[in-house]
Amino acid sequence: MHDGSGRIVVQNLSKQFGAVNAVQNLSFTVEPGSVTGFLGPNGAGKTTTLRMLLGLVTPTSGAATINGRPHSQLGNPARVVGSVLENEGFHPSRTARNHLRVYAAAIGVPDRRADEVLGLVGLGSAADRKAGGFSLGMRQRLALATALLGDPQVLVLDEPTNGLDPEGILWLRNFLRSYAREQRRTVLVSSHLLNEVEQLIDQVVIISQGITRYYGPLDQLRKSQQSRVLVQPADPAALVKTLQENGIQQVSPTPDGRVAVAGSSVQQIGDLAAKAGIAVYGMQEDHADLERMFFQLTQGQYTGGPGYQPQPQYQGPPPPGYPPSGPQQQQQQHWGGPQR
Ligand SMILES: Nc1ncnc2c1ncn2[C@@H]1O[C@H](COP(=O)(O)OP(=O)(O)OP(=O)(O)O)[C@@H](O)[C@H]1O
Ligand SMILES: [Mg+2]
Repeated sequence: MHDGSGRIVVQNLSKQFGAVNAVQNLSFTVEPGSVTGFLGPNGAGKTTTLRMLLGLVTPTSGAATINGRPHSQLGNPARVVGSVLENEGFHPSRTARNHLRVYAAAIGVPDRRADEVLGLVGLGSAADRKAGGFSLGMRQRLALATALLGDPQVLVLDEPTNGLDPEGILWLRNFLRSYAREQRRTVLVSSHLLNEVEQLIDQVVIISQGITRYYGPLDQLRKSQQSRVLVQPADPAALVKTLQENGIQQVSPTPDGRVAVAGSSVQQIGDLAAKAGIAVYGMQEDHADLERMFFQLTQGQYTGGPGYQPQPQYQGPPPPGYPPSGPQQQQQQHWGGPQR
């Protein structure tokens, strides 16, 4: 039997499709009581990972468990984990209620649960409409309703914000937060857009090209945002040399002839440039936002130039409930700027 913990553990998970390394040695843990975002650009390996977690794809190596068990050993899995994956289809001529009743029967829950979950996702008034006529956002809600049928302890949602309007995103945010926090459930949500799930998630696992780039609390990623100064000197090479000689190491020229300096103030840079007799024509403070950091972590192509190096994030103890070696080890192993 499973352990009833509500914990998702992904351990050294890899999947190869022919020559494509879809997922490489991925490890993370998701605990109940919070929403974890599983983020990465298109093709990063999110859906493949979730499919392995849900027993739909066999891993090349490693393991993914829910409540301490692989999906195939969960008994009645719909009672433990509800999921929505990409491109889930509905019988177009079936009403929303009937669609849900078919699934309810399959997992052994009473018919009335269909109306309950329609109410939960705000589709109560559309119960008798055919799913084929639903909008994209309504289909997302119906898919979520299907996932909720078994009142599962764990929810796994692949790109649930796709197709939702701003009101729908707000609704989803409130719904998932209360599902996770008030009911102590586990929620794992993937997305390729950080800003769509930023308000929704507490923890984040960021992957790119099948590899973990960051794993830890979103707050820590936020706090680690570091500003840099873009300097326009008469002689970029001389300024780089002077700054480095004075112990400022995070310095590099940008393609547009400026010098990007992290970990130093405008005043400090100005003083050092003046002392070295280097004319400076302008300086600009540049604050990295979370979205750009996500872009840098996943693409390795920070458009402002190679000088920007955020500090390693989350060096402290693991968040509550995480194993001592989990997030830190993973993160430190992979941190160090973009990896290609
Ligand atoms: N069944 C398959 N056969 C061959 N290659 C596959 C298969 N499924 C996924 N891939 C490849 O694995 C890689 C990861 O794909 P995956 O669908 O997991 O990415 P994703 O992060 O979900 O992307 P998106 O944001 O576009 O949904 C891609 O290169 C993809 O082409
Ligand atoms: Mg996907």
